[in-house]
Amino acid sequence: MIAQANKRLDPAQTGLEAGKLETDLRKRVIGQDEAIQQIIEIYQTDLVGMSSPGRPIGTFLFLGPTGSGKTRTVEAAAESLMGDARAVIKIDCAEFQHSHEIAKLIGSPPGYLGHRETHPLLSQEVLNQYHTEELKLSFVLFDEIEKASDALWNLLLGILDKATLTLGDNRRVDFSRALIFMTSNLGAAEMNSIMRPNLGFAAGERERQWAAGVTDDQLNDKISRAGVEAARHKFTPEFMNRIDKTVVFRPLGEPELRKILDLELTMVQHRLLSSANSAPFVFSLTSEASDFLLREGTDLKYGARHLKRAIQRNLVHPLSNLMATGQVRGGDLIRVEFDSTFRALAFFKEAEDMPAYAMARMVDTSIASPQGVHAAFASVPPPRTANARSTRR
Ligand SMILES: Nc1ncnc2c1ncn2[C@@H]1O[C@H](COP(=O)(O)OP(=O)(O)OP(=O)(O)O)[C@@H](O)[C@H]1O
Ligand SMILES: [Mg+2]
Repeated sequence: MIAQANKRLDPAQTGLEAGKLETDLRKRVIGQDEAIQQIIEIYQTDLVGMSSPGRPIGTFLFLGPTGSGKTRTVEAAAESLMGDARAVIKIDCAEFQHSHEIAKLIGSPPGYLGHRETHPLLSQEVLNQYHTEELKLSFVLFDEIEKASDALWNLLLGILDKATLTLGDNRRVDFSRALIFMTSNLGAAEMNSIMRPNLGFAAGERERQWAAGVTDDQLNDKISRAGVEAARHKFTPEFMNRIDKTVVFRPLGEPELRKILDLELTMVQHRLLSSANSAPFVFSLTSEASDFLLREGTDLKYGARHLKRAIQRNLVHPLSNLMATGQVRGGDLIRVEFDSTFRALAFFKEAEDMPAYAMARMVDTSIASPQGVHAAFASVPPPRTANARSTRR
């Protein structure tokens, strides 16, 4: 007998594994929810075995301005699934303009000079190098595809369409377990002019909106259309039709950059804790110091790249000098303030001889490899006194 039911089902729910990937991506990638959503859809489809056979698992075209997180999104997905952000095979299309450069990718035919010495960058071994028993996935990223030569386009079309690449010596490389990401800055100039039109008041109004994070739906639509139109204009329909997901990354506004600042500061902290050359210490910024970094690092055109440079210049370099000169030592707690006279960050030792567990409590380990961090803590020199001495002024 068949049990009758009339229960409404919820196709928007994702399974546990895809859910974990989504949580990880949301922690690491700020303000680009559509990109995250599209990756999750493809991953979920693959997990249940519903991907189209004979094609790559997914093919993505990421458009949008520089420093908006296109590459970071791919790395973050690799970090979550493969445990390593470096598990991404990156091909910079601008480097493969001439036929001898294509040989670097696919190797030269037998009989050609140097045939034996060339190890193709896109061989099956390279593709499978990060596979594990549980997860057979490859991440392949073609950067700046608008710069690809015709020869490279033809290779790319074959990979997108049939998931195969034929090497110089006729061996075949199977891309059916690959996620293929392609990035391009096409349309970025148009997007920026939508965000900042040269129209006196309007420019001020847009920037005010942007600073408040109010990129309204209309504006988002306009930005998306500018990206997709630029891509349609440049790329053939043959190519566009082979792409599963085209995503236009948004220019980042102040609220997003503020979150990215926090992420990046946590990352700097992790680097300090896992550095092989120095004993771990911790730092904390006052809110004025964070605001200063944000002001210094805000640039509509260069997105988070500008922010990262500001962190490097104002925080990482001075900290490195303090470490190299022994002013900062393992177990220290460094307070970073904003010095309004010099309009620069100022560094104070707030405590020293902190035990590892006390430092560990101050660090957010939810976004990077806790192993690295904990290993570093293991090398903390035993404190000279039982309790950390506070030097608070
Ligand atoms: N949306 C974001 N969320 C979190 N971090 C970001 C984001 N966008 C950029 N970043 C930070 O800025 C760095 C540079 O960004 P990314 O390399 O992803 O830029 P991109 O969009 O690929 O730019 P390009 O077009 O120049 O290649 C990243 O490594 C990351 O640290
Ligand atoms: Mg990039």
